[in-house]
Formats: sequence, C-alpha cells, structure tokens
Amino acid sequence: MRLGKLIDDKINDLLIKIDMQKVPNHVAIIMDGNGRWATGKGLPRSFGHKQGVIVLKEILKAAKNLGCKIITVYAFSTENWTRPTKEVEFLINLFSEVLKNEIKEIHEESTKIKFIGDLTPFPKNLKEIISSSESLTKNNNKFLFNVCVNYGGRQEIVKVAKQLALKSSSGEIKPNEIDEKLFDSELLTGGIKDPELLIRTSGEKRISNFLLWQLAYSEIYISDVLWPDFNEYEFLKAIIDYQSRNRRFGGIESLPNESLKDSQCSS
Ligand code: FPP
Repeated sequence: MRLGKLIDDKINDLLIKIDMQKVPNHVAIIMDGNGRWATGKGLPRSFGHKQGVIVLKEILKAAKNLGCKIITVYAFSTENWTRPTKEVEFLINLFSEVLKNEIKEIHEESTKIKFIGDLTPFPKNLKEIISSSESLTKNNNKFLFNVCVNYGGRQEIVKVAKQLALKSSSGEIKPNEIDEKLFDSELLTGGIKDPELLIRTSGEKRISNFLLWQLAYSEIYISDVLWPDFNEYEFLKAIIDYQSRNRRFGGIESLPNESLKDSQCSS
C-alpha cells in the first residue's frame, strides 16, 4: 500500500506539471528492449514480450486519461521475420491472444483498433481475429489504437508510389496532381494527423524504418528504460519533455499547439 501511495504521489507530481492544452494528439511508440529485459533476468525472451503487453495496456490507459487521441505502436517490423522461428511464432500467438482477451474492453471504451502493415504472411486465424476486431470497432471514435505489424516505412512509401503511378498511367490522376496531401492520403495510416511525438525505449537512437513519412516533423524522445520497465511515470516524463520543446517546423516561431491538435481520432 505504502509503495502504491509513493508511486501515485510521484505520478501526481508530474501530472501537475503537464499543460493539458498541449497534450500531443498522436503519440507513436517503438516498444524496444523486451528481449534484453528478459535475458537480463535469466528468463526466455518471450517473458519480455508478455510483460511488454502489460506495459502497453498501462500506457494506453495513461494516454487516454491525458487526452491523447491516437497511439501507434511498432509491434512487428518487416525485419522481425529474421528472428528465430520460435520467437516469431510466439509473437504471432501473442497478438492473437491479446486480441481475444482485450477486444471486448477495447470496444467498450470506444477505441478503434487498426492494424497497419502487410498482413498477407500471417496465419489465417490471426488474420481473422484482426479483421473481426477491426470491423467490431470501426465506428468507435474516442481513441484510435494503431498496431503496426509486418510494417516497414520504406515498403509503405514504395507501395504508395506504385499506386500513384498506376492511377496516373490509367488516367485517373495527372502526374502533376501528385502532391504531399495526395501522397499522405494513400499511406497505410490513411491521412490521419502525423504523430507529434515519437517515444523509443531502451536507449536506442534510431527510427528503424518506422513511419518514415509520418515522423518528418515529430519530436523524438528516447528513454533509456527497457519497454517492460516503462510505465505511466516514464510516459508522463516524455510528455513533459515534449512540452518543453520549441516546435518550429523549419520556421522561426513556434506554432500554437492547438493548431496541431485534432479532436478526431478516426481517419
Ligand atoms: C521489441 O523488443 C518488441 C517487439 C518486437 C514486440 C513487441 C510486441 C508486443 C509488446 C505485443 C503487442 C501486442 C499487441 C496485440 C499490440 P525486442 O524483442 O526487440 O527487444 P531487444 O531489443 O531487447 O531484443
């Protein structure tokens, strides 16, 4: 109890420092360090992924309470297939299990869940549960939870380029009609507002092929904490750090944060 109170006090100390008018609308997260967390404790890497899910739930709750509208996580990259088969299978099963266990609550909280990436190589049962979860929650509008799986930023950009080239050669669009807005609307994120903040855990300072287009102007916050040890307190620290930044977008003066804010969460 005393420890719980201490943690609540620490969180409250941070909460009072947060400007609720400048909470980021969209936060992207690279949840890194699950494997190192587990091996550091002499445990199989899978334990790190399981703990990672618990942390993800805590962060989604914290983000919603704060007033964020969109969280986009990197759950499986196109490069993750190179991991040992056992780990890949474990992750694929974990995605199914998490969806089965959590979808009711996700829906009750009016959260829309969307999977972003090429789902083709995944097993039929995972594709089915993804599809039913997406259709169940498609009209929810309080919060958008994007899960990037078998996702790669370069692959996404190439796909858009191909689509636009096809539309152009079929005469649907003219080449000079291709601009940032049109390109953006063809992305897998489907024209939602870009993340104002990217959080990466475990101290790694790379984007790792995540949302290459969408992160063009995002603030980047690197936390040294491994994802399974990340928590609401660390998340609030990231938000406070974000709020201390002067976002100039290549210009001179900072834009009013409100102009970046999108009260809608759906695409
Ligand atoms: C990175 O740590 C983490 C992953 C590749 C998987 C993250 C997935 C989850 C937490 C499950 C989420 C589930 C749903 C349905 C959203 P790492 O293994 O790269 O760690 P390391 O860098 O220490 O090896």
